[in-house]
Amino acid sequence: MRFLNSKLKIENTILQNIAKKYGTPAYCYSYKQLRENINDFKKNFKSISPLICFAIKSNTNLNLIKEIKKFGLGADVVSMGELMLALKAGISPKKIVFSGVGKTSKEINFAIDKNILLINSESKSEIIEIDKIAKIKKKQVNIGIRLNPNTDAKTLSQISTGKKDNKFGVNDKTFFELVRYCKNSKNINLKCLSVHIGSQILDHKPYEKMLRILDKIIKKTQYKFDFIDLGGGMGIPYNNDKKLNYKKYHSAIKKFLKNKKSQIIFEPGRSIVGNTGVLISKVIYIKKSYKKNFIILDAAMNDLMRPALYGAVHRILPLLKRSKKSKKIYEFVGPICESTDKFTSIKNFQELKEKDFIAICDVGAYGISLSSNYNLRPKPIEILINGSKIRVVKKRQKHHEII
Ligand code: LLP
Repeated sequence: MRFLNSKLKIENTILQNIAKKYGTPAYCYSYKQLRENINDFKKNFKSISPLICFAIKSNTNLNLIKEIKKFGLGADVVSMGELMLALKAGISPKKIVFSGVGKTSKEINFAIDKNILLINSESKSEIIEIDKIAKIKKKQVNIGIRLNPNTDAKTLSQISTGKKDNKFGVNDKTFFELVRYCKNSKNINLKCLSVHIGSQILDHKPYEKMLRILDKIIKKTQYKFDFIDLGGGMGIPYNNDKKLNYKKYHSAIKKFLKNKKSQIIFEPGRSIVGNTGVLISKVIYIKKSYKKNFIILDAAMNDLMRPALYGAVHRILPLLKRSKKSKKIYEFVGPICESTDKFTSIKNFQELKEKDFIAICDVGAYGISLSSNYNLRPKPIEILINGSKIRVVKKRQKHHEII
């Protein structure tokens, strides 16, 4: 994404033209950025030949997932809906892992029928349930056990998952017990040890710590895991921060893999799609207040939840650049009846007028997938841009579809 003659562009496409033609709010994704992210990820971890399972929860657009599939990625799913979507996108069941703390028996039945690569389980009760269902079906089911390594991912508390207070995974004691349980089961094949310590991790050190813990646990169990699923979590720069250093993470994994024959699985979401998307929106009104000006947009917290939910800050850019700066603080808000329906406040933004357009950046991950119909607002249109080719990958929802 860049400005050319003051116009913000994704590849060869001027976003102002998209806004006028397709209306706002609109999610716009860059195909080239998607390709670059996938190739960069693959290149950095090439020497360990991992299975890369895209975390569907980060972006649930079917057409985007179809594109991701073409690069050979599998899928990490956390519900029957996501599993159905991954299969619909043509992803081979042999590249699908099913994570999550509470899979219902309906979901387990479905996953077993589809012969997916792994059901990553997170409790004794769930493993017993899988065993029971597999026995009825007279099948052998491949599973993973998710360990809670009690590692601080040094990320936002709301998206941290690997500490002992979090609901995810099992503790080491239960892990050893479950390995023994699986060894004695005729219908369960224990294939994988899985972990996922959190999301938006920018520092490689928590990963190093996690790998040291895994190493100890594996030595103690003396069990040969075909797969070690390290989850996702690789962080990206939203503002001035630096993305996770893949090279350092890669060398820690190489060290960990010495004397092991396991294949690594990754479940990246944000690092694949995060910076591919912007949400373009129109300034409906500008309302002057005591100290600030409220820039009232036609996009709201139902379209992009991250700021309201986690206090996340996404950069905002104008679609048309002007040199005159505003003297007031601009507070970018949506029309929803909640004070948390606020994107961010910016000082020294360029002077804006009503009907101007802006772009909220880096919303490709957990943007549309976390969106809702709150205030009975239809979900935005989604557009995929490839050079000057524009493709509507999801139509704007219509009121009659939600009423
Ligand atoms: N694997 C598992 C088991 C997960 O729970 C997650 C994310 C991922 C993989 C993918 O993580 P990623 O590579 O995208 O960081 N809604 C929050 C993020 C929640 C992440 C939940 N789990 C946000 O908008 O920041």
